[in-house]
Amino acid sequence: MKILMLIYSDTGNTLLVAKKIKQEMETKKNKVIIVMVPKKSINEKKVMTFNIVDYDKIIIGSPVHAFSLSSVMKDYLNQINEFKQKEIACFVTQQFSKSWLGGNRAINQIRKLVNNKNGMIIKTGVVNWSNKDREKQIERIAIDFSNI
Ligand SMILES: Cc1cc2nc3c(=O)[nH]c(=O)nc-3n(C[C@H](O)[C@H](O)[C@H](O)COP(=O)(O)O)c2cc1C
Repeated sequence: MKILMLIYSDTGNTLLVAKKIKQEMETKKNKVIIVMVPKKSINEKKVMTFNIVDYDKIIIGSPVHAFSLSSVMKDYLNQINEFKQKEIACFVTQQFSKSWLGGNRAINQIRKLVNNKNGMIIKTGVVNWSNKDREKQIERIAIDFSNI
């Protein structure tokens, strides 16, 4: 399968998780491309360098900012024309150790934005960076997402 990963990462945590997922997927013969969402001012147009129809599945990853989905990813998803009924897995990373401190809300925001653009969320994940089981969480998401 051809997989498109749309990743926003300010300080590298989300990208690290994305790379782990990519690695796991590639062991299963998938072709995975990571597209980094640029950090730009809210009104500036962000360039789409890919065509959604070229991919079988999509993975979206973003940090949690202020108990919500990062505004960069929010703006980016709002700009996408449509997901053409593609199946989409999404994850967020956050500093706090509990997902109810922003992570779950951010996932729900992605779900809503994706639904609005005619996409289907099929898997979700949250990585809690200060959780003692962070490495296990990352590993679990990498394996779980590699089976989409
Ligand atoms: C402006 C800002 C706001 C943040 N707000 C939250 C928050 O509300 N809850 C939380 O758990 N972490 C919060 N964080 C921490 C990030 O979500 C966390 O470090 C994340 O893993 C960063 O991902 P990145 O390295 O891919 O940017 C915030 C970080 C920044 C810079």
